[in-house]
Amino acid sequence: MMTTAQSGPLRHFLDLSDFSAPDLRRILGLAADLKARLKAGERPLLLKDKVLAMIFERESTRTRVSFDVGMRQLGGETLMLTGHEMQLAREETLADTARVMSRYVDAIMIRILSHDDLMELAGASSVPVINGLTRRSHPCQVMADILTYEEHRGPIAGRKVVWVGDSNNVLASWVHATRAFGNTLTVSTPEEYGPDQGLLVDIEATGGAVRLVDDPRQAVSGADLVITDTWVSMGDTDAKERRKVLSPWRVDTRLMAEAAPNSVFMHCLPAHRGDEVTDEVIDGPQSVVFDEAENRLHVQKAILLWAFGIEEL
Ligand code: CP
Ligand code: NVA
Repeated sequence: MMTTAQSGPLRHFLDLSDFSAPDLRRILGLAADLKARLKAGERPLLLKDKVLAMIFERESTRTRVSFDVGMRQLGGETLMLTGHEMQLAREETLADTARVMSRYVDAIMIRILSHDDLMELAGASSVPVINGLTRRSHPCQVMADILTYEEHRGPIAGRKVVWVGDSNNVLASWVHATRAFGNTLTVSTPEEYGPDQGLLVDIEATGGAVRLVDDPRQAVSGADLVITDTWVSMGDTDAKERRKVLSPWRVDTRLMAEAAPNSVFMHCLPAHRGDEVTDEVIDGPQSVVFDEAENRLHVQKAILLWAFGIEEL
């Protein structure tokens, strides 16, 4: 949590590594409560009259729709903006954009490739800023992943989580989550697409909870949760090369057979069927990918409430 002289505690949601485990648990608890209330037909209008501005520098389906619908379900309103239609496209700085928008809206959610740009926006904003994905991390996604795992299989603490494929923003947030939630994380990537220096530092900070294992079969052995993601993230330019190098890390039924019998499969979506995962796995009985996608909605609402200082319903 950051503080400003003018406004007191300012609740940005930028990275899971900024949070204590109890704070992340509180947000997950809120998400579970909100989900139960919604299923019971209740929509507490806790953010009535609040306006969330959403800035998308890149494409999105889940993040965009779940924040938009979530805000409306809580009685608030949204503004959907894209970088290219704002003065950002004509070199107005992120900091000046934040200073101006803070005078109009109550919170800002942004998807922007550069994590430094996110930090510049947050540093100058006097309203909460939420990270809706950067090249470095995707914290909202991994909160939804944890909620989904625990709904299906109970507490994640002590479970073996395995990441297979490209090292990317979703993996980084899983590394940050691992520090807080007490699971282990085994990461299997080709050397060319393994964790960068920054992520290796974060891995080190988990004190041994994250292991790097080259061979995907060995990595997945006994897994409780197997996760993959696209081989070509937004901003990657070497798609052809990636498909070639990453093909031994495809999650197929043979690889899933190495996991524990009660294991589940996750993918943040969008999936590239036939590349990082086969149809049999993503449509198979172990896959919980659409529950995972649904939980983005409930988690987004919880993060919004937390950002506005609301910690219980
Ligand atoms: N998983 C995820 O963030 O999806 P979108 O890119 O569709 O928002
Ligand atoms: N790693 C992917 C996640 C998409 C939600 C990307 O950055 O494109």
